[in-house]
Amino acid sequence: MSAWCISRYFLGSTVSITEARRFVTTFLKGWPNVATAELIVSELATNAIRHSASGRFGGRFLVTIRGDAGRLWIAVLDEGGPGRPQIFPEYPDLEGGRGLRIVSEAASEWGVLGDHRGRTVWASLDDAAVDPNPANHSNAYRQGR
Ligand SMILES: Nc1ncnc2c1ncn2[C@@H]1O[C@H](COP(=O)(O)OP(=O)(O)OP(=O)(O)O)[C@@H](O)[C@H]1O
Ligand SMILES: [Mg+2]
Repeated sequence: MSAWCISRYFLGSTVSITEARRFVTTFLKGWPNVATAELIVSELATNAIRHSASGRFGGRFLVTIRGDAGRLWIAVLDEGGPGRPQIFPEYPDLEGGRGLRIVSEAASEWGVLGDHRGRTVWASLDDAAVDPNPANHSNAYRQGR
């Protein structure tokens, strides 16, 4: 079984959150964990725009999805900045601070790579029943539909 990997850059604006979700759902169409993958990419893309230099004028972020032997890996590479992704302790009346907690609970594993020059926040889903054959992927994206 071979691994597969697909990546796409998005502009660092809020409309890209919808586009990133669509990128993932289109590519993973029909797979059992597509809704979880969509939730994860939505939170990570939102964070890239809101909390990193990707959200500045001209900024962008890179979404990568990778499948390998039943494991799905979703990653968002941003353009860095002074802040670091972190899960806040739970305060009942805290505004926000839930996205990464949701990701950590939905994912089998998650983590952060990189530094102020650019960070990759990643999450993996085990037992995702990921079809390892790229020929079976939805190719709506490649056909521009
Ligand atoms: N890509 C990132 N780059 C830098 N800092 C980040 C990044 N993602 C998250 N953070 C930091 O981690 C914190 C927690 O992120 P989290 O997504 O849990 O909450 P939030 O984005 O503040 O609110 P929300 O509940 O709307 O997602 C953020 O407030 C921010 O300080
Ligand atoms: Mg967030």
